Amino acid sequence: MASRSIARTLFRSAAPAARSSLLRPAFFTGASKLVSTKIPAFSQVRGMKTMDFGGTKEVVYERSDMPLPKLQEFFKNDTLAVLGYGPQGQGQSLNLRDNGLPVIVGVRKGGRSWQKAVADGWVEGKTLFSIEEAADKGSYIMNLLSDAAQRDLWKTLEPYVTKGKTLYFSHGFAMTYNDQTKVNPPADIDIILCAPKGSGATLRSLFVEGKGLNSSIAVYQDYSKHAKEKAIALGIAIGSGYLYETTFQKEVYSDLFGERGILMGAIFGMFRAQYDILRENGHSPSEAFNETVEEATQSLIPLIGAKGMDWMYANCSVTAQRGALDWHQKFYDAALPVYKDLYKSVVDGTEVKRALDKNSQPDYREQLEVELKDIDDMEMWRSGSTVRSLRPENNKD
Ligand SMILES: NC(=O)c1ccc[n+]([C@@H]2O[C@H](COP(=O)([O-])OP(=O)(O)OC[C@H]3O[C@@H](n4cnc5c(N)ncnc54)[C@H](OP(=O)(O)O)[C@@H]3O)[C@@H](O)[C@H]2O)c1
Repeated sequence: MASRSIARTLFRSAAPAARSSLLRPAFFTGASKLVSTKIPAFSQVRGMKTMDFGGTKEVVYERSDMPLPKLQEFFKNDTLAVLGYGPQGQGQSLNLRDNGLPVIVGVRKGGRSWQKAVADGWVEGKTLFSIEEAADKGSYIMNLLSDAAQRDLWKTLEPYVTKGKTLYFSHGFAMTYNDQTKVNPPADIDIILCAPKGSGATLRSLFVEGKGLNSSIAVYQDYSKHAKEKAIALGIAIGSGYLYETTFQKEVYSDLFGERGILMGAIFGMFRAQYDILRENGHSPSEAFNETVEEATQSLIPLIGAKGMDWMYANCSVTAQRGALDWHQKFYDAALPVYKDLYKSVVDGTEVKRALDKNSQPDYREQLEVELKDIDDMEMWRSGSTVRSLRPENNKD
């Protein structure tokens, strides 16, 4: 219990870094093909903490040891080429720019991302380039294309991934499943990862507020013998708060497992099952929705996030707490075999094959729209829309 409260205190007290250059225009306007051979010394000692996670000791890295001048010194001979301008490309590149670091963006011309980048102040020929040009100029090639595009464009990128460069990802996908993605970089480069634990929009908004989203970091290949320092420095430079160490494989396994599980797949399945049983037994749509989704998202899940499951249970009625404690085990027993199947399907590559196959279909977007519309048309989510309109903040009468 004590260690948990220490972890919470530490998390809360993550002091916003002094960001004297926050939101000022980037000083870097010219891009050059510089590959740094000398890595400026940077002590990892002060920024490292060994924390007790429920009895297991893990090392976390914090940004307090990497103030802006140190970051700028670290990357002073580099060009950070961010490829792709989806949520991650946008959030990470804007944070790098506001940190006064030498960043350029590479996206396909004429696409949605190109327009977005121009609107954000990236200038064609100075800080905004085609994917190939940016990859050519970058000493760090930050591959933030969609996971399918990382496979599709690998042959285009490969000629620019040359000796001494650093290849960076925010997902272990392309490297871990390279039997399917065919991403096979050369041996004379560093390959690192920083995966923010949230969307690029959150990474950006927390950075602007002077906070930081936590991320995991990993090294796949350490040619320079400085790959870990690079991962830590870049993780902080893109706006992370704390950095947890992992491997490419563990990052992608846990990510694919989690999003198919409780984060997205399982939560929807459980919501649906509970709503349907309530409806089958004569409860009104509003009652079924309120008792399933609204109370979960508006009251109990935020409490679990803020104070933990035990605290939430302790602060519910005795009737609720007794029932939850008794029924939790039955749900656990029912879910366990499904989770076992899911993990196996992640490890054996089935999930990745399906994602890549589906994503490659020319009408993927249209098919997706049909699937999402089917969800939107479900009675429970139509009820949800009405319930949301009645929330106090949306109902000012
Ligand atoms: N989103 C998250 O919450 C999150 C969190 C952590 C890590 N990640 C990882 O971060 C990476 C980027 O994710 P994201 O969500 O930001 O990316 P995304 O929205 O899926 O796509 C990013 C970019 O890929 C480009 N792209 C797609 N197909 C292309 C093609 N055939 N040719 C050229 N460009 C193409 C898009 O350009 P156009 O606009 O021109 O199509 C867009 O700029 C992924 O590895 C992802 O797994 C994501």
